[in-house]
Amino acid sequence: MSILQAAAFSVLLLGANCMTLSAERASTVETRATWKFLGCYTDNVSGRALPNAVSVPGGSAAMQNEACQTACMAAGFSIAGTEYSGECWCGNSVINGGGPAPDGNALCNMKCNGNSAETCGGPNRLDVYSSTSSPSTTSSNTPTSTPGTTGKRGLAYNNNNPSANAGYANLFKGYSKVSWGYDWGYPSWNLDASFEFVPMLWGLPSGPDPKWTAAVQTANTKNILGFNEPDLTYSASSNILPANAAAGYKTYIEPFAGSRGIGMPNVLWNNVGSSSGGNYNSAQWTQYFLGNCTGCHFDFAAIHYYQDCFPANGQSGAEWFMGNVTDAYKTLHLPVWVTEFECYGSEDQQIAFLQQVLPWMDAQSYVARYAYFGVFPGYLLNAAGNGLSKLGMAYATV
Ligand SMILES: *[C@@H]1O[C@H](CO)[C@@H](O)[C@H](O)[C@H]1NC(C)=O
Ligand SMILES: *[C@@H]1O[C@H](CO)[C@@H](O)[C@H](O)[C@H]1NC(C)=O
Ligand SMILES: *[C@@H]1O[C@H](CO)[C@@H](O)[C@H](O)[C@H]1NC(C)=O
Repeated sequence: MSILQAAAFSVLLLGANCMTLSAERASTVETRATWKFLGCYTDNVSGRALPNAVSVPGGSAAMQNEACQTACMAAGFSIAGTEYSGECWCGNSVINGGGPAPDGNALCNMKCNGNSAETCGGPNRLDVYSSTSSPSTTSSNTPTSTPGTTGKRGLAYNNNNPSANAGYANLFKGYSKVSWGYDWGYPSWNLDASFEFVPMLWGLPSGPDPKWTAAVQTANTKNILGFNEPDLTYSASSNILPANAAAGYKTYIEPFAGSRGIGMPNVLWNNVGSSSGGNYNSAQWTQYFLGNCTGCHFDFAAIHYYQDCFPANGQSGAEWFMGNVTDAYKTLHLPVWVTEFECYGSEDQQIAFLQQVLPWMDAQSYVARYAYFGVFPGYLLNAAGNGLSKLGMAYATV
């Protein structure tokens, strides 16, 4: 137990001795009593010590140890660990070389986002607790679905309209399931304040980039996206070798770790054929990137997916999509943002696809956000660009 945790805990115990606890505080003590603090553990970015990321009510901003324990218990796990102020990881055993930190509890020194009286791990360090009672189910290593949350749905838009602003994206204002947007860069071009704008560093800057720093440091910026399709070589991809991308992350993205949610590079996860300077597919590119990005911290993975809605061979595009999203989570052990996805087909075929995959993503605890491609006339907007298309209406409301 770190000093801060010890202090918080003894204050609660004192409270129990000296006065009548409110029901809320009493239940906090009770919850804590069923979990034992194991210590500050090392984590391993390429293979997590507790491999299952779960979200807590209120998200990363509300993280505290009790919330993580409750979420892990609900998902059927007996070990819970908090990391980097706002992450919750679960498992039934500690794997991938994780274990008690050689430096004791010193590096579990980051306050919980949702409770500054507790620590929630540190950089690649977990505050680990084990349940002293049996979890509701045992031996499952896959998180069970938590009830659908709103707010995962986003807008991939640009300012390519007559007013050169975010007007296209703002047509989605008032649809409660749509909560955020990005435009492959920054600024937001006046994205409506009801949406969270997420700036992206599209490619590798050629030198110091004060505009990017300023965009990230804007008060409302909670999350940032890194390079766009660096794993591909075509003209609209950022085409960066893994080692160079990792160096770029260390310079431009990692300085914001801890203060902003950090996305991994946006790679085309279902790509197995393209190469980027070397002869590797996107999964290989990602492994080389991780191998080079030593000491880097990531809060979420970011993937793209493009494929037919109904492939000619009779297989299901929706199944392939869900398989790829699950695979990204199982490979990278991070909450997943699907920052671009599209199935190729008629408008009705795309709607049928969305009707399958949107409720599924909303129900997966490890899918944090997604954005269908894209907010343009003839896609999610009507041809005139002055309202939602039938597809856009489905995206906003399914
Ligand atoms: C981290 O996890 C990876 C993937 O499972 C593994 O290959 C590596 O040995 C682990 N690192 C340590 C220090 O155990
Ligand atoms: C770093 O990336 C390069 C390609 O850019 C790759 O050849 C190398 O194996 C990577 N290193 C590690 C440790 O993954
Ligand atoms: C990912 O999608 C591709 C189609 O683009 C498909 O062939 C592959 O089976 C999918 N992967 C999984 C794990 O479902």
